[in-house]
Amino acid sequence: MEKKNIDWGSLGFGYVQTDKRFVAHYVDGAWDEGDLTSDAAVTMNECACVLQYAQTCFEGMKAYTTEDGHIVCFRPDLNAARMADSCRRLKMPVFPEDRFVDAVVQTVRANAAWVPPFGSGATLYVRPVMFGVNPTIGVKPATEYQFRVFATPVGPYFKGGIKPLTVRISDLDRAAPRGTGHVKAGLNYAMSLYNIVDAHEQGYDENIYLDSATRTYIEETGGANVIFIKGNTLITPRSDTILPSITRRSLEYVAKAYLGMEVEERPVALSELGEFEEAGLCGTAAVISPLGAIVDHGREIRYAGMGPAIRKLYDTLTGIQMGRIEAPEGWIQVIA
Ligand code: PLP
Ligand code: COI
Repeated sequence: MEKKNIDWGSLGFGYVQTDKRFVAHYVDGAWDEGDLTSDAAVTMNECACVLQYAQTCFEGMKAYTTEDGHIVCFRPDLNAARMADSCRRLKMPVFPEDRFVDAVVQTVRANAAWVPPFGSGATLYVRPVMFGVNPTIGVKPATEYQFRVFATPVGPYFKGGIKPLTVRISDLDRAAPRGTGHVKAGLNYAMSLYNIVDAHEQGYDENIYLDSATRTYIEETGGANVIFIKGNTLITPRSDTILPSITRRSLEYVAKAYLGMEVEERPVALSELGEFEEAGLCGTAAVISPLGAIVDHGREIRYAGMGPAIRKLYDTLTGIQMGRIEAPEGWIQVIA
């Protein structure tokens, strides 16, 4: 199979329309079989539930070319399970988890020419998404849905690649206690758009949100979990209102089982930020993006950027994803 003629190394995190996407429809209380299609456009009624009441959730994962030339995907079963959680919270019909993984495999396979080569610095980002499509004017769940999986080749999420980021403590909140912060609802991102534009205008790469009940604990950023390093310990904020990042959960395992580090998942107070040596953002898109500084209203807390611990975590995680390092059982789905 011939790869597309793309300058893979200069890709940013953007949308490039690829050849095929998987589409399934939920009508009369059941999902149809679904199919691959070349049609990237979606047509729906002006009163579709997603357009009126934002009934939509999504997932994000990546396909990689390994050193020995296979195409693989990282832990898609966990994305399937998280999307099922998102659907239950938003009163959407779950797309069965085994069929979710199969749809991802089909989509990646059909777009194999778009999977960036090993060593190019780029990957194929896979985006499953579900939304309510039938006309809905009273506030209630839709009765008809579309589930899609599309893919787009991407480079680094943050401009400048691995350059240490400067982020600010946000004055706005992301998720309410007992709200939807723990699921991947589109609405969580809609509410962050004002704040991310403002952060960029003020010279920051991202916003770190605090817990909205007390505004004293670190939550996460708009699109990634946060990790901290103190000595030989990886520390990650525990909260019921952050997204349970698959990257972060994988790093906790890697730190313990591969690197002999201690791992603490616990509430992390804003007042503790000065005690950590290294800090980073982690997620599918972010991978691990090291922090150079967190700015809390004029108080600047500096970190080592790509320090020794974050470097080891980064190299081990990406080594597992790209097939250079043996993966724990069940982490790698071979696609081709
Ligand atoms: N937190 C938020 C708000 C996100 O949007 C994401 C991206 O998926 C993450 C964390 C990281 O999660 P994962 O590692 O599963 O991609
Ligand atoms: C991901 O990392 O997959 C996400 O969904 C984050 C988003 C901000 C691109």
